[in-house]
Amino acid sequence: MSVVKFYKEDQQVPLEMHKVRVVQKLFLPTVEERVKCLKEAGNNTFLLQNKDVFMDMLTDSGVNAMSDNQVAASMQADDSYAGSETCNRLMKALETVFGTKYFLPAHQGRACENILAETFVKQGDVIPMNFHFTTTKAHITRMGGRVEELVTKEGLDPHYIHPFKGNFDIPRLKKLIEEVGADHIPFVRIEAGTNLIGGQPLSMENMLEVAQICRENGILSVLDASLLQDNLYFIKTREEAAKDMTIAEIMRKIADAMDLIYFSSRKLGFSRGGAIVSNNNDLIMRMKEYIPLYEGFLTYGGMEVRSMEAMAVGLLETLDEEIINQGPLFIEYLVKELDEYGVPMVKPAGGLGAHINASEFLPHIPHEQYPAGALATALYIAGGIRGMERGSISEQRNPDGSEHYAELELLRLACPRRVFTLSQIKYCADRVKWLYDNRELIGGLKWEEEPKVLRFFFGRLQPLSDWQDRLAAKFREDFGDSL
Ligand SMILES: Cc1ncc(COP(=O)(O)O)c(C=O)c1O
Repeated sequence: MSVVKFYKEDQQVPLEMHKVRVVQKLFLPTVEERVKCLKEAGNNTFLLQNKDVFMDMLTDSGVNAMSDNQVAASMQADDSYAGSETCNRLMKALETVFGTKYFLPAHQGRACENILAETFVKQGDVIPMNFHFTTTKAHITRMGGRVEELVTKEGLDPHYIHPFKGNFDIPRLKKLIEEVGADHIPFVRIEAGTNLIGGQPLSMENMLEVAQICRENGILSVLDASLLQDNLYFIKTREEAAKDMTIAEIMRKIADAMDLIYFSSRKLGFSRGGAIVSNNNDLIMRMKEYIPLYEGFLTYGGMEVRSMEAMAVGLLETLDEEIINQGPLFIEYLVKELDEYGVPMVKPAGGLGAHINASEFLPHIPHEQYPAGALATALYIAGGIRGMERGSISEQRNPDGSEHYAELELLRLACPRRVFTLSQIKYCADRVKWLYDNRELIGGLKWEEEPKVLRFFFGRLQPLSDWQDRLAAKFREDFGDSL
C-alpha cells in the first residue's frame, strides 16, 4: 500500500501527491455581499454565480483536475468523423483498464442509462440495485420499469460504522428474484461508490456475489462504474482479500464478472463524456443503433474529441493508487476534523464528499422548513462555500401535492478530485465549526417559486425571518474585518 508517514505521528495529514501548475484565481466576497448574492440566487446554491463562490463544493461531476498528461493528450486529438485515431486510442485504454473488447460512446452517464433502459427495460419490469441514482431511476421509470433498492439497512444509518455501507443485502436480492421471477428482471444494477447515501462503497466480495447470483438466474449484471475510482481505493484499503492485489487487478476481477459496465467520465477518468463497455458483442449490438440516433456517430457518441483523449489517459491513471487515494484521503480528513468537533457527519467517510447530517445539526428546524437547504445557505454566508442540499428539497412532491420528506436531510460538501489544497479544506472545516457554534441563529426556508419538475435545480426560496442578516452580523462581530 502507498503511504507516506509523518515523523510526528500526531501531525499526520493527507499529502498531495501532485503539484499545482495551472491555477484559477478565487474571489471571496464580504459577508454582507454573500447575503446579497444568496438573495439574488433565491437561496438556492445551484443559482449562485461561480464568480461569487470561494470553495465550490457543489459536485464532483466534470470539475476534477486534469493531469499534465491528460492536457497534453487532448492537444493531439484526431477530429475525423469516421475512423478516428482518438476513438482507437480510447478503445485501447478501455481494453487495458476493463479488459473489454467492445465499447459504445455516449455524451455522459445519463445518456448510457437512457440507452440501457431503452434496450432492456419494458413495462412492468423490476430493476434491483443497491441504491438508485436520480437519472438512473428517471430512465427506468420512463420505460415503465420499477426500481427496487436493496442496500443493507445499515447503509441508511448515518451512525453505523461499516467499511462497505453500499453493499447489497444478498438474502433480499435472492428473495426478490424468487418473488418477481427472473423473466421480469432484465438486469441488476450495481452502483459503485453509492452516490445518494454518501459515496459509500461496496466490497469486491459483494459485487462478485451479486454478479454470480445474476449468472445463476440468467439475469444481466450491469455495473455503474461512475464512482468506481473511490470504491477501488476503499476495496484496496478496507478489504482483506484485496490487500495484496494491485488496483489494476481489483479492477479486472470486478470487470470480468460483469456483463455490462457503464460510467460517467465526468467522474471516472477525470474528464467529460461516458461509455458502455462489454465483452459480449450481442449485447452491444442490441444497443448500437441508439448511439447514432441519440448521441452521435460511433466514433464519438456526442463527446468532444479532446475529452476522449483526456478520458483515455485519465482512465489509465485511475489504476495508480497514489492518484486515486487523493479524494478519499481529503474527505476523510474533513470528516474527522468535523466529527471530533461534534458536528454530526455521515460516517465512515466515503468517496465524493463529506456529508453533514442537517437534521442533527439543526434539530430546531423541522423537515417542512428544509434544514439541509437552510444549512447550505448558512455555510455560504459563513465562508462563501457552496454545498449541495441532499434532503427534502431534492425530493419531488407526492402525486397528491403533499410533501415527500427525505429519509436523510444532508448537506453534501463535494471534494472535486485534486482541486482543493489542504489549507482550503481546513478553511472549510473552520467555517463549519463556527457555524456549528452559532447554529441556534440559523432559521428555516420557505418556497418563493417552486417548479413542478426538478425543483432543487431551479426553485427559489426565502428565509423565514431575518436570520441570515443576524448570522452575518454575528460573523462580523466574531471575525472583525476578515473576509
Ligand atoms: C453513480 C452515478 N451514476 C450516473 C450518474 C450520471 O452521470 P452524468 O452526470 O454524467 O449524466 C452519476 C452522476 O452524478 C452518478 O453519480
